[in-house]
Amino acid sequence: MTTKETRLAAIAAEVEGLTESPLYEFRTRNNYHMVFGAGNPDAEIVLIGEAPGESEARKGLPFVGASGRVLDEFLSEAGLTRAEIYITNVVKDRPPENRDPSKAEIALYSPFLLRQLEVIQPKVVATLGRFAMDFVFDMFGMAEKGSKISKVHGQQFTAQTSFGEVTVIPLYHPAVSLYNQSQKETLREDFRALAREI
Ligand code: URA
Repeated sequence: MTTKETRLAAIAAEVEGLTESPLYEFRTRNNYHMVFGAGNPDAEIVLIGEAPGESEARKGLPFVGASGRVLDEFLSEAGLTRAEIYITNVVKDRPPENRDPSKAEIALYSPFLLRQLEVIQPKVVATLGRFAMDFVFDMFGMAEKGSKISKVHGQQFTAQTSFGEVTVIPLYHPAVSLYNQSQKETLREDFRALAREI
């Protein structure tokens, strides 16, 4: 394992043993897995979603259900592969009924996301959906906090972070394209713009 892989594995092991999480018991009772993230530890682009759904919790991998299938479509149309990027979520365990993660859950899991990013040191962070966008604008203390995703999607913002200057690009959540054709087109264009960043 490379140094980055070793460091990521150590953080993942901590999340695996996060018994104080309100989602821990739900994970073990259902034989679910914690979903730490997957992809290239040297990725220039990290995609951040909200939290794993049922398919993800069953496999222990991010975006492998219906949203993952459309995400793969957008990536391939933009000429990107999962092998060159890194994909993760703000919250690493599945919330029951896919409800929004609570404030307490976000507070508990988010330090692990920051540490994960500090290891990978991406140039670009693309958020998937309003939830991840709000979270990342807030985490990096950005002036864009509170922006509407319909106004800022596909645009580039600069964040000063503990691992240097990072370009943040908010994208719609791939799942919206499952029921909204015009947003599917928007996502397609935004993913192409994202690919041009590397
Ligand atoms: N939706 C997310 O936000 N993350 C996943 O991993 C899957 C679906």
